[in-house]
Amino acid sequence: MGRLHGKVILVTGAAAGLGREYAVRLAADGARLALADIEDCAETAARCADQGGEALTLDVDVSHEDQTKEMARRTHERFGRIDGLLNNAGLMRGLAVKSLLDVDMDVWDRVFAVNARGTFLCIRAVTPYMRQQNSGTIVNVGSGSTLRIARAVDSLNPHYTSSKAAVAAITRGVARELGAHNINVVTIAPGATTSDRDPALTAEDALPEPEAALGRRGVPGDVTGVVAFLFSDDARFISGQMIVINGGREVY
Ligand SMILES: NC(=O)c1ccc[n+]([C@@H]2O[C@H](COP(=O)([O-])OP(=O)(O)OC[C@H]3O[C@@H](n4cnc5c(N)ncnc54)[C@H](O)[C@@H]3O)[C@@H](O)[C@H]2O)c1
Repeated sequence: MGRLHGKVILVTGAAAGLGREYAVRLAADGARLALADIEDCAETAARCADQGGEALTLDVDVSHEDQTKEMARRTHERFGRIDGLLNNAGLMRGLAVKSLLDVDMDVWDRVFAVNARGTFLCIRAVTPYMRQQNSGTIVNVGSGSTLRIARAVDSLNPHYTSSKAAVAAITRGVARELGAHNINVVTIAPGATTSDRDPALTAEDALPEPEAALGRRGVPGDVTGVVAFLFSDDARFISGQMIVINGGREVY
């Protein structure tokens, strides 16, 4: 029996990329899943089914409160409980600018609406169900980019970095209140990690990263197992923390 047998976990941003990889790993460990995204999660659901995992797909924009409430309601209606929330949906790609003067403030607002507000709204949406159960685990996806100064002027994205710093702050901001209901909240901060969104690479292609202690960038298998652990009962006493998964590139 898998370590997550019997648990119901809601994964946002599950249509592809790392969200899909997390979902498939959680299914392989025995979880039943609700898969939420603005894109179609059918392929992810099929991959979860290959692992023996039941999956509900949901069309959700996490920046809209009514949609996040409906997401939680339908998840609870289908499975009768919500044990975990993986706040993975995020805007990350195509945001690089050469100067802070080039940041389009409409884009800034959208990045914060999805990455920060969306994370908070999804937490709010599942809270009544987890409180009722007196149990739950929330894993918020931050970023290793919050721990360093941008490497080069072609990788400046102050709006993204700021929104991901907000994710870690949201974790700390809600951990005490939710802790009173036996709900633990954790941030993960992956470093650069390849996925099926990187067209030239397979999911297990590790690129060299000389500045990392382990000498390479991450691949999905480096992060998915950590998330499976965090949703397991073995991690129930970790809360408010940020877990950095970057091969030793930045040290926290
Ligand atoms: N890949 C990396 O190197 C890396 C490193 C650190 C953190 N992260 C974070 O991990 C998460 C996943 O990264 P990824 O590489 O798979 O990114 P990705 O862009 O491939 O996937 C993000 C997913 O979120 C979905 N999404 C976007 N806006 C949404 C919205 N409003 N509502 C619901 N879903 C929405 C997208 O449709 C997509 O499926 C993101 O939060 C990202 O910021 C990624």
